[in-house]
Amino acid sequence: NGELLRWDGPLAPVRSPIFLATDEGDQQVTLGSTPLLDADAALAALDAAVAAYDNGQGEWPNLRVAERITHVERFLARMREQRTAVVKLLMWEIGKNLKDSEKEFDRTCDYIVDTIEALKALDRRSSRFELEQGTLGQIRRVPLGVALCMGPYNYPLNETFTTLIPALIMGNTVVFKPAKFGVLLIRPLLEAFRDSFPPGVINVIYGRGRETVSALMASGKVDVFAFIGTHSGAADLKKLHPRPHRLRAALGLDAKNPGIVLPSVDLDNAVSEAITGALSFNGQRCTALKILFVHEDVLDSFLDKFSAKLAELKPGMPWEPGVALTPLPEPGKVDYLKGLLEDALAKGAKIINAGGGESRESFFYPALLSPVRADMRLYNEEQFGPLVPVVPYRELDEVIDYVLQSDYGQQLSLFGNDPAQIGPLVDAFVNQVGRININAQCQRGPDSYPFNGRKNSAEGTLSVHDALRTFSIRTLVATRFT
Ligand code: G3H
Repeated sequence: NGELLRWDGPLAPVRSPIFLATDEGDQQVTLGSTPLLDADAALAALDAAVAAYDNGQGEWPNLRVAERITHVERFLARMREQRTAVVKLLMWEIGKNLKDSEKEFDRTCDYIVDTIEALKALDRRSSRFELEQGTLGQIRRVPLGVALCMGPYNYPLNETFTTLIPALIMGNTVVFKPAKFGVLLIRPLLEAFRDSFPPGVINVIYGRGRETVSALMASGKVDVFAFIGTHSGAADLKKLHPRPHRLRAALGLDAKNPGIVLPSVDLDNAVSEAITGALSFNGQRCTALKILFVHEDVLDSFLDKFSAKLAELKPGMPWEPGVALTPLPEPGKVDYLKGLLEDALAKGAKIINAGGGESRESFFYPALLSPVRADMRLYNEEQFGPLVPVVPYRELDEVIDYVLQSDYGQQLSLFGNDPAQIGPLVDAFVNQVGRININAQCQRGPDSYPFNGRKNSAEGTLSVHDALRTFSIRTLVATRFT
């Protein structure tokens, strides 16, 4: 509610995935701590947002668009001053390498600039028009109410801000819960929030989701639920809302994006795209390629080229130049990945690359695995980490069946140069996923394009333009001349 929190309750330590050598051996770095809010404290933040919205009568939802834009521009200027601090925390909190951390920061700033421009254009179009003879129409794009925005740890800045900024700029008031890892990096921005927006318009909470977020949802006072995380987590939280039919949701959820390598493939391009697609930020991207179907005619060459290129990826600390493979922030993740690996090996898969699957502390060296089959966990489970399962195939039927039967439907990639084969595949898949990439990896960007998915992968569409619509509704004012 426009004040920095004074908190004398319990704190949660924030641990880095990075271990440093000390006289007593390698020690995990503790970066600081965050307040562990209880349900009452979280509800107080929600009440501040509810009061600022004031059932649509508050100052913020009724400001002219140009004025709300001024507030967001003020915030952006202050945010840019914190680039060094935020980038450093991206590296230390989630282990993202320097290049990608800088990219995340800059991409988020660009997203805000583009959102402002898109809103100006949208606003220009909302002029008066003749609805029918004798009736003047005007469409007013208005906010929805109080938005709860929660981001994921892999993009604690970018993903979160792609809901937070459109929610704010459209006149909603917001409660924002930073990701579990990547929480301290919001701290350098708190004063910018406080100084750029009226009290109650943006409220930041910390703590365990099962206490804080559950209480917010159960209160029935949340109108828009923006969440990037697991499908089951989103479903559990939505169920708590007493009037779920009145809740608008913008959800980015699970994915198991397949890469499909056809016999007509340009192998060098496919390997280069697939390796970045599967392993950038250690495979911890919802858009990562999480299973590769490779035609038997090109299988050996594909595996050889992939392992050779994988060997070029440099492991190390996030700030070291050229480092691609870094420590994983989720506690227990290394053991989870080992479990998936052991299951696949026990059922007949082999590790193709030297050193694949080796681990130390929070570091896990990527493993390329083949042949992966339907009875292995890696066939359907979203690994969200550096394991690359390869399924050899002879007939495309198995691949088509996989996509059609999958619970996920975010994106897929097709690698091949035979239009006679690719055209029908695109037709077969166009109703299954949110994006089809041909000869390119799966990815979200550019952020101005629709980002969505089918089945358990998403609800609603995000992009610079779509998000403005997601966080607002159109009211028609129709004036009949008498
Ligand atoms: O984790 C999901 C992100 O939206 C992925 O974005 O494809 O740009 O890495 P990206």
